[in-house]
Amino acid sequence: MSLTSDDFEFIRELVDQQLGMALEDDQQEFVATRLSALARRLGTSNVEILIAGLRSASNRALQQEVCEALVTHETSFFRDQHYFDELTQRVIPTLTQARVAQRRLKIWCAACSTGQEAYSLAMILREQFNERLRGWNVDLLASDFSSKALQQAKSGHYSDVEMSRGLTPARQAQHFRRDASGWTANEQLQKMIRFERINLLGSWPDLENVDLILLRNVLIYMRPVPRQQILQRLVRVLHPAGAVMLGSTESTGSAEITCVRPR
Ligand SMILES: C[S@@+](CC[C@H](N)C(=O)[O-])C[C@H]1O[C@@H](n2cnc3c(N)ncnc32)[C@H](O)[C@@H]1O
Repeated sequence: MSLTSDDFEFIRELVDQQLGMALEDDQQEFVATRLSALARRLGTSNVEILIAGLRSASNRALQQEVCEALVTHETSFFRDQHYFDELTQRVIPTLTQARVAQRRLKIWCAACSTGQEAYSLAMILREQFNERLRGWNVDLLASDFSSKALQQAKSGHYSDVEMSRGLTPARQAQHFRRDASGWTANEQLQKMIRFERINLLGSWPDLENVDLILLRNVLIYMRPVPRQQILQRLVRVLHPAGAVMLGSTESTGSAEITCVRPR
């Protein structure tokens, strides 16, 4: 299965407009494979017809399906453990000390995929900071553009394989309950997080004075211009003494923002 270069350019422009995502010249086959699977799932006979449907009308639902099919949702619990060590040992203690008078903490996990990153953070808060944060207003917002990923995140439900990626048996037992098809985060953990659909290229509702932003492993897929625009906007929603964590291969470019890097 291959795509005409016209169709490839069309899809490239679509994901750029919708997500700021950059598709490289050599990704035609990848796009063809992912869209063939989508066409099959939607009962469309082939990719040409799927793309023709996209071209003929501004079908937002289909645009969303195509974007969902092309992004990577790769994630895991405690992904890059050293980030979570840094959060536990330095970042959260510093932030809680700075906010002791206000007794409030605002955290934004800005491309949370299927939720493992946000739940990892919630586990740390429960395990290590429960006493210190008693009576505080802790707002942990986790967002993603993908409705499908968010659906799983909200359910808090994970397969055995997903659970085995990053969670010790002790943590599984402490924060999750077993059921017939896998594991579900317990109520205490679930109620710590509010999940919302936010496209980083769109509006960011009610976000100001955020103390901690996790924006890991998403800018890497974006073109430089939207990447830079997002970083500039982060500066505006971040508390002046707040902290930002990007993925290990991502940088702030020219944005005036200091990132926390694990030691
Ligand atoms: C590779 S996952 C990273 C998940 C998690 N942050 C981690 O590091 O494990 C990238 C996520 O970014 C989301 N994403 C991509 N473009 C986005 C955009 N423009 N706005 C919001 N989320 C986006 C994708 O849906 C995907 O779930």
